Amino acid sequence: MMAANHSAQDRQSRSIHADIECVLVDEATLQRRVCELGESVSQEYAGKDLLLVSVLKGSIVFMADLIRAISIPHEIDFLATSSYGSGVVHSGAVRILKDLNISIENRHVLLIEDIIDSGNTLSYLLRMLQERQPASIRIMSLLDKPERREADVAVDWVGFSIPNEFVVGYGLDYNEIYRNLPYIGVLKPSVYTKNEQVA
Ligand code: IMP
Ligand code: MG
Repeated sequence: MMAANHSAQDRQSRSIHADIECVLVDEATLQRRVCELGESVSQEYAGKDLLLVSVLKGSIVFMADLIRAISIPHEIDFLATSSYGSGVVHSGAVRILKDLNISIENRHVLLIEDIIDSGNTLSYLLRMLQERQPASIRIMSLLDKPERREADVAVDWVGFSIPNEFVVGYGLDYNEIYRNLPYIGVLKPSVYTKNEQVA
């Protein structure tokens, strides 16, 4: 008889695809949209000193594909943040775990995010970066959950607007896992339940 599949070790040996309830955005659809976004950026910033800033870690897969869809010269840099507090209560304050390596003064900055949820992270980052006097600063987010918005942030480019579901894949994680899924998927509720049992 098979034992119940509840241990952390069991989970580590399973395919990550088995934990997905449904695919929300498939691989081909993601690639098509990323190409469109890359073309749009190439047109918008032609002749400008463009710097793409990726907010770690969730946006790395999107960023890697996006820069190859951009045909104009540009530089890239990375920021890492962590929000104060956890769970549903978000104070709006964000801790910078890794700051930019280069100055953004007089440069055209495009912030690249994986998903905008409450909007608190981006709202904070925007204020912080504005103080460094870039020539311009705009935001691109692969995903948007408009229902969850708390902070009033204007997102200039959105890849896909999605319903209020917790999604993983294409860079997005749950407990640091599932970033390597090539699509955006909704996690099975049993994954949360199992994690609660072993926690
Ligand atoms: P907020 O907009 O400040 O609430 O936070 C956005 C961040 O929360 C994102 O950059 C993600 O790291 C994380 N996040 C929000 N919703 C999801 C989700 O559905 N899946 C994975 N991470 C998420
Ligand atoms: Mg993020």
